[in-house]
Amino acid sequence: MKNSPEPYRIKMVESISLPEKEERTALLREAGYNVFRIPAEKIFVDLLTDSGTGAMSDTQWGALMQGDESYAQARSWFHYRDAVREITGMEHVLPTHQGRAAENLLFAEISSPGRVIPSNNHFDTTRANIEFFGGEALDIVIPEGKDIHLNHPFKGNIDVVRLDEVLSKLGKEKVPVCMTTITNNTGGGQPVSLENIRRASEICHAHGVPYFLDCCRFAENAYFIKKREKACSDMSIHEIVRAMFACADGATMSAKKDGLANIGGFVALRDGTLAEKLKSMLILKEGFPTYGGLAGRDLEALSVGLREVQDERYLEARVGQVVRFGEALKAHGVPILEPVGGHAVYLDASGILPHVQPEAFPAQSLTVALYEEGAIRGVEIGSLMFGRTMPDGSFKPAEMELVRLAVPRRVYTDNHLGYVAEIAGKIVAESEKFGGYRIVEEPPFLRHFTAKMEPIA
Ligand code: F0G
Repeated sequence: MKNSPEPYRIKMVESISLPEKEERTALLREAGYNVFRIPAEKIFVDLLTDSGTGAMSDTQWGALMQGDESYAQARSWFHYRDAVREITGMEHVLPTHQGRAAENLLFAEISSPGRVIPSNNHFDTTRANIEFFGGEALDIVIPEGKDIHLNHPFKGNIDVVRLDEVLSKLGKEKVPVCMTTITNNTGGGQPVSLENIRRASEICHAHGVPYFLDCCRFAENAYFIKKREKACSDMSIHEIVRAMFACADGATMSAKKDGLANIGGFVALRDGTLAEKLKSMLILKEGFPTYGGLAGRDLEALSVGLREVQDERYLEARVGQVVRFGEALKAHGVPILEPVGGHAVYLDASGILPHVQPEAFPAQSLTVALYEEGAIRGVEIGSLMFGRTMPDGSFKPAEMELVRLAVPRRVYTDNHLGYVAEIAGKIVAESEKFGGYRIVEEPPFLRHFTAKMEPIA
C-alpha cells in the first residue's frame, strides 16, 4: 500500500496564521535574527522541535480528567509506574518532569572528574549534565553515521569495536555506565539496530559496566527495527521494545517525545541500591518519588501515551509522514540528510548556501530564510550551536551545517509539510539572495538559544 493513513481522525483544531512578509522581516530584526526569540503566535508551521509539541488523543484527554492529585501514592502514580515497567521491564521507576531532570539525577550520582561515559551520540542536555559533574561525554557512533548522504539502515549504531577498546583501556572504575540514544537525535534521528543494542550490552557486561538507554524515541526506533532488521520482522512493536530494554540495566527518558504528552520523563533502573540513592535527590530536586515534578493528570496522560505510541499503525503513519516530507523536499531540489530519520528532516545548509562560509553561519542563514519566506521555524544545528572560537582566535566550525525540521506528533498534515517543502525549494532556487550573519551578542554557553545576530552586509 502506498498510503498509510493515520489511524485517527481530527476532533479539535487550533488556528494558526501566516503574518505578512513585512511583519516577518520586522520580527526577525527585533529578534536579533534568532528564531528562538520570535513569539510562537507569529509562526505558521513550527518545526522547532517534536518535544512536548504533540497532540494528545481523546483517550489521553479523558484520562487527564481522572488524575489523582494526592501528594503521596496517588492512583495516577501506580498507573504511570506500571506503564513504564511494562515497557522497560525495570522494577524501579523515578518520575521526573522531563528528560534532562532524569539525566541530572543520574549523572549527579555517577559522573565525576576522570570518568568517561560513552554513547553513540549524547544529546546536548545529556552531555551538559555529564560535563557539569566533571565527567567526559564520549561519542562513538559508527563512521557511517557521520556521512550526510550515505545510505545505511542503522546510522545510529554505536561503534562496538571502539566501545570494546574504550572499556578495555579504561575499565569499569573509569566508566560508570555506557549509553545508547534511541533514536540517535544528534546524528539525524537515525535508528539503532537490536543487534547493535545486544552487542553493546554484551560488551559492557563483559567489562562489568552497566548499559543504559536514552529512550526518548524508543517506539520510533522499534518501528525501524521491525522494518529494517530481517530477524525482527515478525515481532510486534511491543516485543521489540521489550527486547531492546531487556539488554539494558537502566534508562532515562524524556516522555515529551514517545510519551505522546506535553511534559514528563523518568529514570528506570534494575539496581535497587542506585534507585534509593537517586530517590533522595529526586525529593530534593523534583518532588516526592510518586510524582517527581508532574501533576497526577500528567501521569495519567503519559500512561496512556506510552501505550498508544506502540501501535504499529500509528508508527507507520508517523514515520511515513516524515519520510514523505523528506521526499517532498527532495522533489523541490532541497538537499537533505539521508536516509530520513524518525522525527525530523535535516536540511544540508552547506549544500544549499555554498557561498556562505561556516564562520558566517550558513545553517542560521537558512533558518532565518525559512522564517522570512514562509513563517516556518526550524532549528540551526551547525556552527552557531557547535562552532567555537579557539584560544588563538581561530574559528572551529561544526562538523556539519544542518537545519533540523522536527515534525510534532499528530499535529500537522502533509499539506502543511508540502507548504514547507515548497518554501524551502524557493529558497534553494534563489539561494544567492541569502547571505551570512555575524553574532552581536552572545551568552557564555548554549549561545544558540539567546544570541543576537545581524546580516553581514
Ligand atoms: N535525550 C534526547 C535524545 C533528546 O532528544 C532530548 C530532548 C533529551 C534527552 C532531553 O529531554 O528536553 O525533556 O529535557 N530533545 C528535544 C529536541 C529538546 O528538540 O530534540 P528534555
